[in-house]
Amino acid sequence: MIVTGDLVTDPSAAAYERVRELLAPLDPPVYVIAGNHDDRDALREYFAPGERDTGAAGAPFQYSADLPDLRLVVLDSTVPGEEEGRLDRERLAWLATELAAAAGIATVVAVHHPPVLSSFPAFDEIGLPAADRGGFADVLAGHPQVQRVICGHIHRAFFETLAGCGVAVCPSTWLQSPLEIGMTEINLEPEPAAFMVHATTEAGVVSHVQPIGGVRRD
Ligand SMILES: [Fe+2]
Repeated sequence: MIVTGDLVTDPSAAAYERVRELLAPLDPPVYVIAGNHDDRDALREYFAPGERDTGAAGAPFQYSADLPDLRLVVLDSTVPGEEEGRLDRERLAWLATELAAAAGIATVVAVHHPPVLSSFPAFDEIGLPAADRGGFADVLAGHPQVQRVICGHIHRAFFETLAGCGVAVCPSTWLQSPLEIGMTEINLEPEPAAFMVHATTEAGVVSHVQPIGGVRRD
């Protein structure tokens, strides 16, 4: 299970303890990524097993993990104290090195801020700068084993492509962004929560959106 960032609204020990408590009953291993509401070192403290190298204290929370059918590369797009994201030269160089180290293995890259525009200007203003999106695309173009880029941040499922790779943005398990193309103010509503399932097949990764709840047939 991959949690694509913003585990909490305001980072505190109590909030992260509550998240850990809620995730504990789940069977699959949990991989978390940093969102703009998260604290990198709290993620290290609460969600990074000791054997996983996630970077030094205060540094971007980044790591790779070998899943049964995939390699997962977790990239940190956050800037402490800011809502918008950055993928600076150091982080993109780290990504390129991680991808070059396992060129033949199907890979998913997880990053909180989508490296594509959302059609919601209010969110794009707190997204990644154009130069950083371009830099990310350049890294992807050189590593065709990346089968999907998965993201959070926008509170709504949408899909794009970047350098020939599918980008899937996960809806929220809490409030959603209503469908308002061109929205100029962030407005979160209690629309049905949902999550995504990325199935591995011989042909590649297939991404599904699964709403939680729904109407009864009878
Ligand atoms: Fe976010």
